[in-house]
Amino acid sequence: MSTVLITGSNRGLGLEFVRQYLDKGWKVLAACRDPQQASELIELSNTDNVELLKLDVTSEKDINALDRTIDHLILNAGVLGDDCAKLGEMTQSKWLEVLNINTVAPALLIQALKENVAASEHKTIVGISTRVASIGDNGSGNMYSYRTSKAALNQILVSAAKNLADQGVKTVAVHPGWVQTDM
Ligand SMILES: NC(=O)c1ccc[n+]([C@@H]2O[C@H](COP(=O)([O-])OP(=O)(O)OC[C@H]3O[C@@H](n4cnc5c(N)ncnc54)[C@H](OP(=O)(O)O)[C@@H]3O)[C@@H](O)[C@H]2O)c1
Repeated sequence: MSTVLITGSNRGLGLEFVRQYLDKGWKVLAACRDPQQASELIELSNTDNVELLKLDVTSEKDINALDRTIDHLILNAGVLGDDCAKLGEMTQSKWLEVLNINTVAPALLIQALKENVAASEHKTIVGISTRVASIGDNGSGNMYSYRTSKAALNQILVSAAKNLADQGVKTVAVHPGWVQTDM
C-alpha cells in the first residue's frame, strides 16, 4: 500500500487531500499541530488507513520524530501572513513567522525525510505553492511576506530536485488555484 504524509491536514486543502488519498486506497499519515482538536480529521480516522501525527512544522523536535517510508510527501501547511502583506504593516517578527512556516519548514522536512521518500516506490515530494509567487505574474503588489516565502519554496523544490535526482526522488511545485478555505 502506498503512503502519503500531509502537513496541515486538519482543515482546508490538507483535509481534502486526506479524503482524496483515502478514496484512492492510500495509507494516510495525517499531520497537524493538534490532532486531539482536529475534529474533521478524527471523523475520517475510523479506518486503519489513517494515522494522526502531531506536527507543528516550526518544531524541529516534531520534524525529527518522523520516521516512516513515504511515497508522497505533501508540504501543504502554510499561512497567508495577511498582517504582513503591505508597506506600513511589515515587522521583522511577523515576516519571519511567515518565512518559518512557508519556507524554512518545508526545507527542513525535505532534509529530515529525504531517505524515507527515497526508500518508497513513488519517491515524490509536492510543495503547495501558489501563482502569486510568480514574479512575472505580480500585477498588484502587496502580499510581501507570502509572495516571497512561496517564491523561495519554489527554489527549494528545484534545488531538492537536483540534489535528490540520483536517488530517483522527484519534486513538484503545485498551484492549486483559488480555493475558498479559511485562508
Ligand atoms: N486556498 C487557496 O486559494 C490557496 C491558493 C494557493 C496556495 N494555497 C496554499 O495551500 C496550502 C493550504 O492552504 P489552505 O487554503 O488549505 O489554508 P488553511 O485552510 O488556512 O489551512 C492552513 C493549514 O496550515 C496549517 N498550519 C499553519 N501553520 C502551521 C504550523 N506551524 N504547523 C503545522 N500546520 C500549520 C493549519 O493548521 P492550524 O489549523 O493548526 O492553524 C492548517 O491546517 C497553503 O500552503 C497555501 O499557501 C492555497
